[in-house]
Amino acid sequence: MQGHWLLAKLGKRVLRPGGIELTKRLIEHAKPAAGDRIVEFGPGVGRTASILLEQQPAEYVAIDPNPEGTSALMKILENYPQARLECADAKETGLDDASADLVVGEAMLSMQSDEDKLTIMKEAFRVLAPGGRYAIHELGIRPDDASPEFVKGIAKALSRSIKVGARPLTVPLWSELLEETGFEIEYSDTNPMHLLEPKRIISDEGPKGAAKFFFNVARNPAARKRIMEMRKQFRTHDDNLQAVAFVARKPLAS
Ligand SMILES: C[S@@+](CC[C@H](N)C(=O)[O-])C[C@H]1O[C@@H](n2cnc3c(N)ncnc32)[C@H](O)[C@@H]1O
Repeated sequence: MQGHWLLAKLGKRVLRPGGIELTKRLIEHAKPAAGDRIVEFGPGVGRTASILLEQQPAEYVAIDPNPEGTSALMKILENYPQARLECADAKETGLDDASADLVVGEAMLSMQSDEDKLTIMKEAFRVLAPGGRYAIHELGIRPDDASPEFVKGIAKALSRSIKVGARPLTVPLWSELLEETGFEIEYSDTNPMHLLEPKRIISDEGPKGAAKFFFNVARNPAARKRIMEMRKQFRTHDDNLQAVAFVARKPLAS
């Protein structure tokens, strides 16, 4: 099972590298507003969907081709008549041109090849109306001048342990892809990649949620072994891993 779905199965709801703290900073800069048409790529179990829907947007569309998070996500969406899930790939959403004001995606580009990252960014660009915002939160590599071989080496080590093709990039490389797509970057930020550190788990899930997660991990030795291995990899590469976030705008004339 892919690492993020294992964590979700054990009760974890925040599955992105920079935690809820980086999500909150990202959303603050993306400024979702009442009346916005919002699209979320790869919503997982819907933690960010809840935050976005609290703003009472005119429309919220979740795009996810995988069924693992669907029932948890639908429990949130069913409280909002303007929200729906489309079972589709972010590379080809089927949504109309210029039909969104804000596209959000967290921890879903990092698992794609560079070519697919660009295809997904182009799809975000296409569905956004001129002036629309694209907010992303992904896995990053530091230092900024890390060589391509170094970036590939870390990606390989991580992919083995989390069982997902992890393909993080440096901040300049993420920026380059956004700009190649046609976006203008308005905000960028980083946070430590502490997804599996106890302090971060408590901050992400709250004391009750964290206690439930720790309890579920403790009583499942196979899952515990996997999670410890994932955390070991994250700790080994701590100096070179980080979470990155950007808000980029589709120009008014493009
Ligand atoms: C690591 S989880 C992150 C979930 C959530 N965004 C979060 O940060 O907690 C990756 C999510 O991206 C979705 N995903 C993977 N590939 C996708 C694609 N090509 N198009 C849309 N969603 C995708 C997965 O199904 C999953 O919901």
